[in-house]
Amino acid sequence: GNPVDYQAEDATIVQGAVESNHAGFTGTGFVNYDNVAGSSVEWAVNVPSAGTYDVVVRYANGTTANRPLDFSVNGSISASGVGFGGTGAWPNWTTRTVKVPLAAGVNKIKAVATTANGGPNIDKITL
Ligand code: GCU
Repeated sequence: GNPVDYQAEDATIVQGAVESNHAGFTGTGFVNYDNVAGSSVEWAVNVPSAGTYDVVVRYANGTTANRPLDFSVNGSISASGVGFGGTGAWPNWTTRTVKVPLAAGVNKIKAVATTANGGPNIDKITL
């Protein structure tokens, strides 16, 4: 079907904040992960059929340090240590695609920071 946007600011945020101080986001803002390992954003997504989906993560990282995320689906790790490198400045948004296995219907996709820097700023996922 057509791609659907799932905004980070509408997701379940643990140790993070919705902010809007860096231009270029879609929706009403983005999530600033707390600078701590374990901070997370979890989306509930709905797909018509089971399969491997491309999840397009729109993010910014104004530092030069990679900010990896672990992705889990419905509680099981599906992609570990996915890299989100520097984008040059906080208002510079780009995308990175992560493949995840989904079941038909509603799935929970959780993106967890693995380092003390926390995650990149995340605008949305699209799938
Ligand atoms: C800055 C920036 C935030 C970012 C944070 C970080 O404070 O303004 O948007 O999330 O750095 O390093 O995580």
